[in-house]
Amino acid sequence: MGMAVLRKTLPQMLVSSAFLAPLFLLLYGFFRDSLGPNPVEKITHETGQWTLRLLLATLAVTPLRRCAGMPWLIRFRRTLGLLAFFYGLLHLLTYVWLDQFFDWKAMGRDILKRRFITAGMMSFLAMVPLALTSTRGWIVRLGGKGWQRLHRLVYLAAAAGVVHFWWLVKSDIREPALYGAVLALLMLARLKKKGRQAPRAPVSTSGSG
Ligand code: HEM
Repeated sequence: MGMAVLRKTLPQMLVSSAFLAPLFLLLYGFFRDSLGPNPVEKITHETGQWTLRLLLATLAVTPLRRCAGMPWLIRFRRTLGLLAFFYGLLHLLTYVWLDQFFDWKAMGRDILKRRFITAGMMSFLAMVPLALTSTRGWIVRLGGKGWQRLHRLVYLAAAAGVVHFWWLVKSDIREPALYGAVLALLMLARLKKKGRQAPRAPVSTSGSG
């Protein structure tokens, strides 16, 4: 771990720190008992929202690189994706631990009974292979093409995340609708470019997450 490594990974470390701030605020609030009348609900909502925001930010990297002339964004794609997974893991952990107290039977029933839980689980499960294969070693092992094919699961993760949110709100669908609209726009930006762009963007093997 020399200076060269530090210089190369500093931007990713700064971005990670910035996006970890919401987590530290939650932890701080939790231990100070200042998260409001229902801390578990507050933690569930914050971690869920950040999972979805970070997933959409990850999906925004490619269109922004191509259309907005921001090629350097690619070095943050893996960082953003891993942060999304990390918040997803915390969100799931909040449910398993603080909401259901490790009652696996009840959770099994819950997953089958409440369709929004089914969708959330699907979104999370779609992110697992992406996080596991996010390293340079896995890009090499799967080959650029195979890796890209596998990583199309990110669309499923994002779509299922939006559906999860849509199904859980009681009446005011404005928030999930906004996330859905952003996802639709990002997908459109991709489709539009595909026809004109000759080679697909290479997979970045730089950066550390
Ligand atoms: C791993 C399986 C998951 C479970 C068991 C789960 C469970 C939950 C629960 C119980 C709530 C609160 C519902 C309520 O207040 O009535 C919630 C909210 C939410 N979840 Fe999940 N979730 C999962 C995965 C995900 C994933 C992967 C995402 C993002 C892609 C996500 C995004 C959200 C959002 C945005 C909310 C609403 C936040 C708000 O109301 O402000 N969830 N989830």
